[in-house]
Amino acid sequence: MTMSNRRPLRRALFLGAWTLTVVVAAPADAAPGKTIDFPSGQQLYQDHCATCHGADATGNGPMAQVLKEPPADLTGISIRAGGAFPAGQVVEIIRYGGNLAGHGTMPGHGAAVMPVWGRVFSEEGGGGKGGGAFSRRAVIELKRYLESIQRKAP
Ligand code: HEC
Repeated sequence: MTMSNRRPLRRALFLGAWTLTVVVAAPADAAPGKTIDFPSGQQLYQDHCATCHGADATGNGPMAQVLKEPPADLTGISIRAGGAFPAGQVVEIIRYGGNLAGHGTMPGHGAAVMPVWGRVFSEEGGGGKGGGAFSRRAVIELKRYLESIQRKAP
């Protein structure tokens, strides 16, 4: 058996994330308004973002060395933005790529190293309407998680 087809692998990863969330992440997640069948922001982060941005989100993931653009330190977003967490811009960056300096940078325009997650999550959620809803929720959970790990200005 080979894993030449990408779909089963992707589905396995997807189901794995859900299972882990139910078993491990959800009970520890105390934020209000969350249902236990959706991956937490922290879980989504560890599954999709930590390879580049690092498990602690400071930009030191294993992929960081092979990227031409260094992954941002995601614990310093508020500090770089002058104090307040720029929630709207962060949502836009996660959904469409880019960075805080030129947020919403579309692929093909300059160095768009940051993946476009809106589309990825849409596919993971099964595409169509359900995929769109899954994607919106995933981006919001990630935004909340990032907001919760911001460093205070020294
Ligand atoms: C393939 C590596 C890679 C992965 C995986 C990745 N990123 Fe990024 N990310 C980057 C790079 C590189 C930058 C800097 C991009 C730039 O400056 O154009 C960046 C920038 C960002 C920024 C902007 C930070 C700032 O201050 O400008 C945010 C927010 C962000 N990433 C969130 C995420 C989230 C959330 C995930 C997971 C869903 C994720 N990233 C996954 C590489 C990655």
